[in-house]
Amino acid sequence: MAQITEVAPDLFRITTFLEPFNLQFSQFLVRDAQPLLYHTGPRMLFPAVKEAVASLIDVRTLRWIGFSHFEADECGSLSEWQQLAPQSEAVCSVVGKLVSVDDCLALRPAKGMADNEVLQTGKYRFRFLATPHVPHCWEAGHMLEETQRTLLCSDLLHQAGNGEPVTHSDVVGRCRDVLMEYQQGPLANYMPYCTLTDSTINRLAALQPRTLATMHGSVYVGDGGQALRDLATVFREVLGAA
Ligand SMILES: [Fe+2]
Ligand SMILES: [Fe+2]
Repeated sequence: MAQITEVAPDLFRITTFLEPFNLQFSQFLVRDAQPLLYHTGPRMLFPAVKEAVASLIDVRTLRWIGFSHFEADECGSLSEWQQLAPQSEAVCSVVGKLVSVDDCLALRPAKGMADNEVLQTGKYRFRFLATPHVPHCWEAGHMLEETQRTLLCSDLLHQAGNGEPVTHSDVVGRCRDVLMEYQQGPLANYMPYCTLTDSTINRLAALQPRTLATMHGSVYVGDGGQALRDLATVFREVLGAA
C-alpha cells in the first residue's frame, strides 16, 4: 500500500515509490467539508491510490480533483476517480479546461480557475496561481492553501530516490542533482527555461509558503520562499545555460 503521511492538519501525502524510475509519486488528499485530491497519480497506480484514499475518507464523497498540468502522473486516472465519486469535478486552469481536460479526460465539465481565484473546500482556502510553462505546459498552475501556507508545487523541487516523507533540510540541492542528471539523457529539458520562468518562481516565493508539497520527493517544511528563490537560481544555472 502507498505510504500515507499527514503533512499539515488533514492534508495527507500519499506516496508510492516506483523502483524502475527511482522516483516517488505523491498525491495529496485534503480531508475537508469538500474533499480534494490533488494529483490523481498515473493510471497504473489507481488501485493503490484508491486504497489509500479510502482509508482516509469515503471515496464517493470526493468533491474536487485538482492538478497542475495535463500529464499522466498529474491527472491520468481522473475519469476513474470521477466514476467512483459522482459529485467530483476536476479543477485546473482555464487553459487546461479549454484546451484538453474537458475534451480528453473529464467525465463532467471541469472547473477552470482564473489566476488568483480561490477555491474554498471548508476550513481550507486554495488560491490558484496560473503559472504557464512552470514547471512545464501552457496550462500549468499551482495551488496555495492559505491558512497553513502549503504550496502544492507539482514537479517543482523534484527529487530522485525514496526519501523521507518530510524534511527540513536542503531539497534544492537534490533537485539540482536530478536536473543535471536528466540533462544527460532522454529526459533532457524536463522543464523549459523561458521568459516566464524566473518571475513565476519568484512570484511563488513571495507568497512565503511554509510547506512545499512536491509530487516527486520529500515535502519541504521551512522557509519556502527562500527555497523557491534558490530553485530559481538553480533553474537559471542548469536549464538557462542549456
Ligand atoms: Fe509534469
Ligand atoms: Fe510529475
